[in-house]
Amino acid sequence: MQTVSNVSQLRSKIKSWKQQGLTVAFVPTMGNLHAGHFSLVDKAKQIADKVVVSIFVNPMQFGKNEDLDKYPRTLVDDQNGLIEHGADLLFTPTVETIYPKGLEAQSYIDVPGVSEGHCGASRPGHFRGVATIVNKLFNLVQPDIACFGEKDFQQLAVIKTMVEDLSMPIEIIGVATKREESGLAMSSRNGYLSDEEKQQACALYQIMKNAESALKDGELSIAEITEQAHLAIVQHGFKLDYFNICNANTLQPATNDDTNLVILVAAFLANVRLIDNLQVTTA
Ligand code: PAF
Repeated sequence: MQTVSNVSQLRSKIKSWKQQGLTVAFVPTMGNLHAGHFSLVDKAKQIADKVVVSIFVNPMQFGKNEDLDKYPRTLVDDQNGLIEHGADLLFTPTVETIYPKGLEAQSYIDVPGVSEGHCGASRPGHFRGVATIVNKLFNLVQPDIACFGEKDFQQLAVIKTMVEDLSMPIEIIGVATKREESGLAMSSRNGYLSDEEKQQACALYQIMKNAESALKDGELSIAEITEQAHLAIVQHGFKLDYFNICNANTLQPATNDDTNLVILVAAFLANVRLIDNLQVTTA
């Protein structure tokens, strides 16, 4: 696997593959790779001839009081893992390469609708930052396919909507969330938790599973199920950000007629913001 950090090296490699008629799948990441990321690389390998991964901790998607500076940078471990999983090319641009004019002067992409509410409400500007960098990376890599984790369900919806709205010729593949045996969704942010806190954090998954059973039973209303989940999250020592039961396509609050649902949750444990989700089909 070759690692390149400048755009001309990236473009010439991709150009030579395209000239040979090879398909390219892309896995954008912010590094600190774990089994969840590697499952995206594995998927990408199954469906394309060449796999490009990017590592770029994107300042545009972090709020002022968020963890940009302390976001873990683990390039050598990441490279070793990517080699093991058969990635072909790693792109590691600098902030100056991506945003030469600075963040304020940068054109941006806003995706209305699905980017509003949930994380969009708690982290103003976050999805603008995500859509802008993903768009920019797509223009640099020009992949046929791109793989994203379903763990970031709203992010995946934002990217799918952007690609559709802007007629980008890229197939977006969502890959199922990788979980620890305890049910805790794998995330770079779990690294901030002690072993004891990780054990505590897996309650989020259990609370979603309980809500899933209640939705399938159909005896309680969505409002009652949500209320119970809010209480359980607080009782387990989290500070609740949101727990919302939504229509899985629009991410709008679910109605009793919706059968294709997603539970979206965000909560803080020891100041670490964890997100997770669970898709539920009723009827
Ligand atoms: O999910 C992530 O790691 C990031 O939001 C992404 C998609 C790489 C954009 O910076």
